[in-house]
Amino acid sequence: MENEFLNIVDKRTNAAYDVPLNQGTIRAMDLRKIKTGPEDFGVMTYDPAFMNTASCKSAITFIDGDKGILRYRGYPIEQLAERCSFLEVAYLVLFGELPTEAELKGWVDNITHHTMLHETTKKFLEGFRFNAHPMGMFISTVAALSTVYPEARNVLDPETRKLQIYRLIGKVPTIAAYTYRHSLGFPYVYPDNELSYTENFMNMLWKMVEPKYRANPVLARALDILFILHADHEQNCSANVMRAVGSSQADPFVATAAAAAALSGPLHGGANEEVLKMLDEIGTKDRIPAYIEHVKAGHGKLMGFGHRIYKNYDPRARIIKWAADQVFEVTGRNPKLEIALELERIALEDEYFIKRKLYPNVDFYSGIMYQAMGFKPEIFTVLFAIPRTVGWLAQWQEMLEDQEQKIARPRQIYTGYEARDFIPMEKRGVKTTSVTS
Ligand code: CMC
Repeated sequence: MENEFLNIVDKRTNAAYDVPLNQGTIRAMDLRKIKTGPEDFGVMTYDPAFMNTASCKSAITFIDGDKGILRYRGYPIEQLAERCSFLEVAYLVLFGELPTEAELKGWVDNITHHTMLHETTKKFLEGFRFNAHPMGMFISTVAALSTVYPEARNVLDPETRKLQIYRLIGKVPTIAAYTYRHSLGFPYVYPDNELSYTENFMNMLWKMVEPKYRANPVLARALDILFILHADHEQNCSANVMRAVGSSQADPFVATAAAAAALSGPLHGGANEEVLKMLDEIGTKDRIPAYIEHVKAGHGKLMGFGHRIYKNYDPRARIIKWAADQVFEVTGRNPKLEIALELERIALEDEYFIKRKLYPNVDFYSGIMYQAMGFKPEIFTVLFAIPRTVGWLAQWQEMLEDQEQKIARPRQIYTGYEARDFIPMEKRGVKTTSVTS
């Protein structure tokens, strides 16, 4: 609603201010005019971890965390997961509309023709230790692409940007598959342009000596659905990093690497790997109540549970559960599923989790499904990073085209020393406390 205002009375001066309110939001800069005198800096907001701050306007993804709703460009995630291919959804997320048949064909062709890695990039990957974590290899290799495509720095040119978008979406599965083969000591498999995006990814992961890799269609579709579910999730930690790094006009390869680094943490995309470790640690169903008590006593978290935005069942977790059933028809049931289902049942009946509105999130069941498909837990977060590259790029484009955006530069409340004189070395004596920065 327009023409709504908040009336703020400053009790220090008794001055009253009308602060415009738009979509339930005030502009933090409007608070700056609330001051005690000309020398006063004005009122600022303090919001560690962005608990209540909109950092941008965005038309990409809508989430209603209380109702458990997720939509890309207005389309419910359930419909997209059921009816679309991943690249079709990627087009929607990036360009705002579902593609026509001709647009989709052109888009898929462009992505398919950018799947190869430069041989020097392949050599770069070969330099990692055999036991390097795939996510570390992925982050570094995506950043290294910046050295191969220096023109990518021209971020204000839409055509240059589009080419980097093709390259990044085309190459992330190749990098991901290479990190996997490297950790197993297998030779790298080159992309096969006749296959779909996910089939080709499976080809690069699992092809051995057969002349042509044929992906199981059920598993390929399940992976495609997983990719759709992970394509974007509005202003999460890694999207925020993508926007912040991109706001300095850094090229999209280094910005994507930074976003992937944010994703790797256990509280974000790294949670899927942690869920499997947790299920292993629990081991058997009878040990679940004790584990839950342990968590409630403040020893760690139930990985794959809770979300900053969802205070209801994560709609992606529901679809993953459905897709996992299709996968298990082919692969057989992952024994960890029994533990996960029981853990969910007990947690959802427990006062601690009910009170805090902690439900399973996207990472709770994805790992169990990935493991049944033959992936090792170390690669799970890389599987998240492939589709999320689409969301990062959409957020990055939107940020660059937004006239209101500038270099991201938060304020702080300084809590350190007042000005003090330099102490020469001979007068410093023995420190009794350490000085932190
Ligand atoms: N297990 C046990 N307690 C939890 C959990 C959990 N998984 N998550 C939150 N809590 C408690 C937390 O201790 C706090 O309790 P209290 O009010 O007594 O201090 C309360 O719930 C609120 O939690 P919070 O940490 O303030 O919530 P947040 O919005 O800052 O954190 C989160 C969100 C996702 C980081 C957190 O729920 C968490 O660490 N979950 C486990 C890790 C995980 O599954 N991450 C994947 C998130 S979804 C995919 C993605 O974003 O990549």
